[in-house]
Amino acid sequence: MSKVTVVGAGNVGATCANVLAFNEVADEVVMLDVKEGVSEGKAMDMMQTAQLLGFDTTLVGCTNDYAKTANSDVVVITSGIPRKPGMTREELIGVNAGIVKSVAGNILKYSPDAIIVVISNPMDTMTYLSLKSLGLPKNRIIGMGGTLDSSRFKYFLSQALGCNANEVEGIVIGGHGDTTMIPLARFATYKGIPVSTLLSAEKLDEVVKSTMVGGATLTGLLGTSAWYAPGAAGAFVVESIVKNQKKMIPSCVALDGEYGQSDICIGVPAIIGRNGVEKIVELELNAEEKELFAKSAAAVHKTNAVLKEIHAL
Ligand code: LAC
Repeated sequence: MSKVTVVGAGNVGATCANVLAFNEVADEVVMLDVKEGVSEGKAMDMMQTAQLLGFDTTLVGCTNDYAKTANSDVVVITSGIPRKPGMTREELIGVNAGIVKSVAGNILKYSPDAIIVVISNPMDTMTYLSLKSLGLPKNRIIGMGGTLDSSRFKYFLSQALGCNANEVEGIVIGGHGDTTMIPLARFATYKGIPVSTLLSAEKLDEVVKSTMVGGATLTGLLGTSAWYAPGAAGAFVVESIVKNQKKMIPSCVALDGEYGQSDICIGVPAIIGRNGVEKIVELELNAEEKELFAKSAAAVHKTNAVLKEIHAL
């Protein structure tokens, strides 16, 4: 019997729960929200698709009742406000830090062994805040940013190549920010063929830039933060944990000397399985990529420092 809780039944949380149910990733998916009736309503709406879509997962909605989340194997935190057009993810820290910290604390009271997947923004800093405030072993906290950014990278690569996105491999490391993420063009392939041999340097540069502002572009179009790919990215991480798939997923994880960094949660490829972060994969970065990573980490450290200023840590 596997159980997953999604905290926050807004666009991202509800999409994540929907994908988890549709793919029968867990036997039970609980959605919890602070808004009276919203998660109950969304759970009932989704349950009414079960016969149409043919899934057996049970969905449960509750208003702030953490007892209902008890004994979850994995908990996804999406709580907080999304960004509006023109805002950076980092600007959300003041409001979201308090929310994420209290949610994470409540979750652990009822699911002391859960693996936590953080989606709330600024994602790297919210992952770090959860790790530090909960005092959990570092394998049990995973931020989903790199999963989403890599999926966007593969989408833009497939558009440029005119090919099936499922035949493209691509990894994005670094922070989940418009200026901090690092799509690793050198490692990207189409059916094992380096994309650098298939696309011009200019075209590849365009793909990298589109990926970096992928979230902002959608926020501009939608008037709020995107949700289909963010929700599905969260579910993708959860599936690798619940089914012990041990997939290599670019994820925001705590580093302890890897990539020359410590006291930080930031995006790098990691093996994700039943124990959460099972292994951090150290890529052989070249000098330019190393410099980009160091700059990205410096920016994430700077945002993390705000947590102390606002007394969240
Ligand atoms: C995005 C938000 C969820 O990138 O961070 O769409």
